[in-house]
Amino acid sequence: MPRVFKATNIENEDKEVKKDYLDRHMPHVICHDKVKRGDVFRVKVKMGENYTHPDDHDHYISTIQLWNRETLLAETKYSSGAYGNEGSNVEVDFYIAAPEVSMNLSAMAVCTKHGLWQSEDKQVKVI
Ligand SMILES: [Fe+2]
Repeated sequence: MPRVFKATNIENEDKEVKKDYLDRHMPHVICHDKVKRGDVFRVKVKMGENYTHPDDHDHYISTIQLWNRETLLAETKYSSGAYGNEGSNVEVDFYIAAPEVSMNLSAMAVCTKHGLWQSEDKQVKVI
C-alpha cells in the first residue's frame, strides 16, 4: 500500500520550506455546501493555495481523483508539460449529479515525485 499524505494544518508549521511542500501538494475540493437531488453541479479540485507545483518532465501532478466516501466518481490524468513546464496550481472542474443522499467528497492527487495526497473532506448536503 502506498503511503497517503493527508491534509494537515499548515498554519502549525513554522518552517517556510515545509509549508511550501505541504501547500503545493494539497488538493482542495471546492463546491456548494448544498445541492438539489439530481442536479448536476460543479466540483472544482485545486492543488495548493499559496505555492505552485512544478511541471517538470520528472516531477508533475499526474492524477487528480474525486471520491464520494469509498466510491471513485471521476479522475483526470496529466502529462508532464501540460502546464507549459511552468509552476502552477493545477485545477480541474468535475460535473456530477447529486445523488439521493448527502455526500462526503474528497480528492486524491498524485505527484510523480512526492506520492499520493488526500484533501480534507467536503460535506455536501443534498436537499
Ligand atoms: Fe511534488
